Amino acid sequence: MKPKHHVEVSSTVLPPTTALPPSGVDPIAIEGFDHIEIYTDSAKQSSYFLSHAFGFNPVAYRGPETGWHDSASIILKQGDVLIMLTCPLKPDSPIARQIAKHGFAARDVAFRVTNAQWCFQEAVRRGATAAAPPTEWKDANGTIIHASIKTYGDTIHSFVERSKYNGPFWPGFAPYSKVFPGEPVVPEVGLSAIDHVVGNVELGGMNEWVAFYEKVLGFSQLKHFSDKEISTEYSALMSKVMNGGGGKIKLPINEPAEGKRKSQIEEFLEYNGGPGVQHIALETKDIIATIAALRERGVRFLFVPKTYYEEAPTRIGTIDEDLSLIQKLGILVDRDEDGYLLQIFTKNLEDRPTLFLEIIQRHGSRGFGVGNFKALFEAIERDQAERGNL
Ligand code: FE2
Repeated sequence: MKPKHHVEVSSTVLPPTTALPPSGVDPIAIEGFDHIEIYTDSAKQSSYFLSHAFGFNPVAYRGPETGWHDSASIILKQGDVLIMLTCPLKPDSPIARQIAKHGFAARDVAFRVTNAQWCFQEAVRRGATAAAPPTEWKDANGTIIHASIKTYGDTIHSFVERSKYNGPFWPGFAPYSKVFPGEPVVPEVGLSAIDHVVGNVELGGMNEWVAFYEKVLGFSQLKHFSDKEISTEYSALMSKVMNGGGGKIKLPINEPAEGKRKSQIEEFLEYNGGPGVQHIALETKDIIATIAALRERGVRFLFVPKTYYEEAPTRIGTIDEDLSLIQKLGILVDRDEDGYLLQIFTKNLEDRPTLFLEIIQRHGSRGFGVGNFKALFEAIERDQAERGNL
């Protein structure tokens, strides 16, 4: 018998298209981030945590109740941020194997694109490894074309073409409130968009992945931070920022550098079982209100020492916000040639010292808070020392 909320869905793998864009037009036209998919042991429990702590609301669902028996997925939304939480339903699921290896981790940094087939074919032609072939997904709300390629570790980039779809998230998903009626709506905290997504790769891997994003996706390098800029007494890292999608996609890539002790990147690689997404930065237009709300809900952030704020006024100059409030909430400030930014980092989202979130508000600055890196890393090292991993 079909479940009450069954959604009739079909998927068809598409043959290679010969209708290519005119010469001179880049087939890889990325419009922005589409969503981030996180693999978790329990979509239900992770959804409760992310909604009640971070102000996301579930908008769509696919699982046994909609006639889908391979996995369960909940889509969380706040502003333009879409997070897909996917869990396995049976022990022999390939998703279960991924979770055994990486824990609660980002699987897919998905891009919204103009033409998923063009993106996939061109990316593979330029050397990308396919993860899923172009496939047309269809239900009563329309069509989505999806394909994906592999990137660092077990992470993938999906290409999502959703211009002919008008449903809750994806063909096969039902509105969450239809399947689970009566759940209270959680007040949002002002998170509005995905700002950037950072990957940690192994020593020597950074330049390889920089070349991949340049060659395969046509990204350009925005910034380069050397280990001299990003080092503390104990550890160092190097970072390059890849930029694509007309500036809408920013993907910094970190690799560990030689230090006296184990660097935070090495700790990540050990506990994540290799490269993966280190943090997802979410934008707010009012970081004071956002962080006050998150702290009220018990979200824990990296501790910033009092000394950081003593030297802050000389380093950052005048800002619109009240510095005493910034200090009270533990927010970091950095200034560059274009303006300033405010940012703060959560503690790890699970027990493994792996994935965490950043909340960021930009006032002109297009940077990543390099002036804060040292203060931030010293804070991470205090946590590392508490775990006995420094
Ligand atoms: Fe960041």
